Amino acid sequence: MTNNILEKKIFNYDVIFDIKGAIFIKQNRLLVISDLHLGKSLSINSLGYSLPMHDFSDTLYNLKKIIKEYKPSKVISLGDNFHDKNSIIRFNHESICELNSITKIAEFIWIYGNHDKELINKEKINGNFMKSFREKELIFTHEKKNDKSDQFEFSGHFHPKTYVSVNNSRFYYKCFVLGKNFCILPSFGSYTGGLDVKSNIFRKIIRNNANLIILGKKKIKQSKYLYDSN
Ligand SMILES: [Fe+2]
Repeated sequence: MTNNILEKKIFNYDVIFDIKGAIFIKQNRLLVISDLHLGKSLSINSLGYSLPMHDFSDTLYNLKKIIKEYKPSKVISLGDNFHDKNSIIRFNHESICELNSITKIAEFIWIYGNHDKELINKEKINGNFMKSFREKELIFTHEKKNDKSDQFEFSGHFHPKTYVSVNNSRFYYKCFVLGKNFCILPSFGSYTGGLDVKSNIFRKIIRNNANLIILGKKKIKQSKYLYDSN
């Protein structure tokens, strides 16, 4: 095993957690990612700001790289795939071609998120758009919903991050939150921030024992989620 992946058994599935912020389920060759937020800089700039617009190409570069590495049969993107409902309208022809050059490599399932549930012009993008997806006991959805013991749910939405303390400094890293019956994925998109797992919002969500799988610069590592820690 390299420092870049961590392998776990979830139900009867062999699941790889990749340092790049994706999950690969070996038996059914599913690659799972979340919160690409494609078109975020374009969306913000449409409000009068002047952000550099490199996020789209950078996110697609990372997505293409991980698809080529794992060669999945299916890619499941867990929502907030596009930053707002007008994102595809703002993309130029080259951007749509660039995205579709990736979506034709594998079958794509686009789960709707709160940002893109009313997405316009989705027919220009390859793949199936749906509210949630299920494969046997595995559920794929945008926002964590339940803790049923006979199911395992993958979701995104919260963009989890956590810090590692070194001397008096805190260094923040994206992380997976892994519970007994759920996993919340970090955001995959290049211009996406994160929500501290120690925040009150997360404290309410992670009521049971959970682990964090932290995406360091060179190493992926697991640590216990400490509910009461400040
Ligand atoms: Fe999001």
